[in-house]
Amino acid sequence: MESAEKSRMRTGNGPHASSLIQASGPVSQVPLRKKARSNRTRRRPGRRYDKVLVSRPTAMLTNEWQAKSKRWGHPLHSMCSYMGMFPPRLPHYFIQKFTRRGDVVLDPFCGRGTTPLQACVEGRVGIGIDPNPLAYSLTAAKLDPPDPVELRNRIDDLSNDMFFASIGQEPPEIRMLFSDETLSQLVYLKHELDPRDRTDAFIVATILGMLHGGAMGAKGEEGRKTARRSTAPPTFLSIPMPNTFSMSAPYIEKYVREKKLERPRVDVFASLRQRVSRLLRLGPPQTRGRAWAVRVQDLLSVPDPAIKRRDVRLIVSSPPYLKVLRYGLYNWIRLWFLDECPDRLDDALDQHRKLDDYLDFMLQTCRLLYRVCAPGGVCALVIGDVKKGDKEPIVLAEEVWKHLKRKRIGWQLAEILEDELPRNSKVSKIWGEEKKGRATAIDRVLVLYKGEYEELAEHVAW
Ligand SMILES: C[S@@+](CC[C@H](N)C(=O)[O-])C[C@H]1O[C@@H](n2cnc3c(N)ncnc32)[C@H](O)[C@@H]1O
Repeated sequence: MESAEKSRMRTGNGPHASSLIQASGPVSQVPLRKKARSNRTRRRPGRRYDKVLVSRPTAMLTNEWQAKSKRWGHPLHSMCSYMGMFPPRLPHYFIQKFTRRGDVVLDPFCGRGTTPLQACVEGRVGIGIDPNPLAYSLTAAKLDPPDPVELRNRIDDLSNDMFFASIGQEPPEIRMLFSDETLSQLVYLKHELDPRDRTDAFIVATILGMLHGGAMGAKGEEGRKTARRSTAPPTFLSIPMPNTFSMSAPYIEKYVREKKLERPRVDVFASLRQRVSRLLRLGPPQTRGRAWAVRVQDLLSVPDPAIKRRDVRLIVSSPPYLKVLRYGLYNWIRLWFLDECPDRLDDALDQHRKLDDYLDFMLQTCRLLYRVCAPGGVCALVIGDVKKGDKEPIVLAEEVWKHLKRKRIGWQLAEILEDELPRNSKVSKIWGEEKKGRATAIDRVLVLYKGEYEELAEHVAW
């Protein structure tokens, strides 16, 4: 591993005591047994299913997580929206089915940290891996939140010591988003906060989630509600815009001109105080987890005790799509606050244009994941169907499984589940026709397990 990358590996601490969150006992009572092989092949019009798909017990796994609201979950999940994020109800389903308290749950492409946070909320040890500094910042902060009193004191100190930071050096595309007063506070905080400190790291991550939003879009309702409550400080700091991703600077400029938008004068400290108290209103997660700013390719050299012991019980993850999302470009505002370069980030992250390259990337990744998994471990990968033009959609999850099976790397197939997304929820939809590209409204969950089925049954906490 390169030394620069090594130096960016940071982590939270070990387990911690207090618990204010609802405990998570086992929910499923369905015994897991090997089902007799069926001769009947399930077919859909026009397509054949792989034989393995029907020979595995399928009754135990369903997409029942969809019955829960998309907003279900610990308030910390809502710290910041993230492109390609899945809702906490999804990892919750697999955590309940396949793990016990204290087990290790890994997401090797953790994004905003949904899987490891949910694992920690349920008393498991969540580990998140992602080389993207935005993903790392959000995940590390959620998995190792500071003491609320220290947090409030730190915000008060920062506010009391505030001096007018010069905004003259800031790029014009940033200056068009924030009022001069708000931007001056942000520039001051950018320089004062030390992300190596746990309390400061939490403040940085919270600010990332507040930088933009408040228009109709992912958090539109929230933005409007806050505006109606005249006494509450605004949730978002910028001119109103969708907060899932940063639109391009020329687009924003035109939008501001056409809508005659004024940059709002927001006191960052007042909004920050309100935001952290909302995020921590249920207390911290039951256990502490660990985040690592590392590429999955370097998984085996991550100095995490559970990874070194090959003791991962469950993996729930959504790997990067087939060239759909550019995490650098579409996060340029948040990356400005982190002093990171969007283009450099996009070059560093894995994005594959060609199916064969993608399948090879998934093969290499799954090989590594197999090695860090404990016997009987389960791996659930969310993989969306892709569609190009008028052609038939490619069921990518099936393509990945066929490739893994051909290469015999050890994983067994439990099931491929379907997760139909509401029409408007795919990020690519917001980009309009031109960029809609390859994502479709169907995600699948490819569920794999390591070892014999009986081994898996033994561990499941009924
Ligand atoms: C679809 S997102 C995951 C979102 C996540 N499930 C959530 O709920 O927030 C895919 C993630 O893969 C990360 N990624 C891209 N290349 C990677 C690599 N080589 N190793 C690890 N993570 C990578 C991206 O930074 C991105 O955060």
